[in-house]
Amino acid sequence: MSAKLLKGAEVAKEIRAELKAEVERLKEKHGVVPGLVTILVGENPASQSYVRAKQQTAHELGFYSVQDNQPVDLNENKLLELIDMYNKDPKIHGILVQLPLPKHINEHKVLLAIDPSKDVDAFHPVNVGKLMIGEPDYLPCTPAGIQELLIRSGTEISGAEVVVVGRSNIVGKPIAMMLLQKAKGANATVTVVHTRTKDVQFHTKRADIVIAAAGVAEYVKGDMIKPGAVVIDVGVNEVGRTADGKRILKGDVAFNEAVEIASAITPVPGGVGPMTITMLMKNTVRACKVHNNIKD
Ligand code: GUN
Repeated sequence: MSAKLLKGAEVAKEIRAELKAEVERLKEKHGVVPGLVTILVGENPASQSYVRAKQQTAHELGFYSVQDNQPVDLNENKLLELIDMYNKDPKIHGILVQLPLPKHINEHKVLLAIDPSKDVDAFHPVNVGKLMIGEPDYLPCTPAGIQELLIRSGTEISGAEVVVVGRSNIVGKPIAMMLLQKAKGANATVTVVHTRTKDVQFHTKRADIVIAAAGVAEYVKGDMIKPGAVVIDVGVNEVGRTADGKRILKGDVAFNEAVEIASAITPVPGGVGPMTITMLMKNTVRACKVHNNIKD
């Protein structure tokens, strides 16, 4: 038996059509345009490709979008000044600083400098804290995309045993926090496994939903999954290049094995990735409405 494919690319397209209509309505009814700036420091090829995709989507949806490319040796204070400038710019509602940053820049200090009301990544400690107490203004993009995919695919989350593989601040910790909330699309029993977990397979094998966000290509093998489980693969691991220089990507799940055992699984690419970008756009539309005091 082959698992159903949870095609994030298709769901993301639906949500983007809804967002595009909302952007048009905001323009016509309120005379406002959502504004997003993406700041990229340096020339990391993966980051360049992510930022390009974010800018292209923003453009397609009719946003005011700014791509701010800065040299790899940009001084930390200069970056903080730049963020301050965008914090004060009324045309900009969402500020995204692409991670990772070069080593000489303190990432925590940079994330703290972003106005929490413009923090469309939801990485600022204020937004992380609000998420933890179940009162979020913005949901972090990848976890929000995962939750939306689970809901739209009809997966029963309430009461489910969810095992999250990986404890990053960007995915593992926030998705665990979101799915355990007493809320719609949540109420799961959540376990987080990580590099110091004694027996990872013991946990993944009893999970109704496995969320693989370890950052290791094909880490979750078929025999680590319970038959009929739903598998969400967050991994984007570059394992090589094609002859014409294109990146060859593999997820954190051994797809060919898992697809025979799971009831549903996200492909890589075309699964979680497109959902992440779409949730960023959703947050930016929300930020635009908050900043313009629009309640409808
Ligand atoms: N680097 C990898 N993922 C992300 C993300 O979601 N946001 C930002 N800003 N940087 C990233």
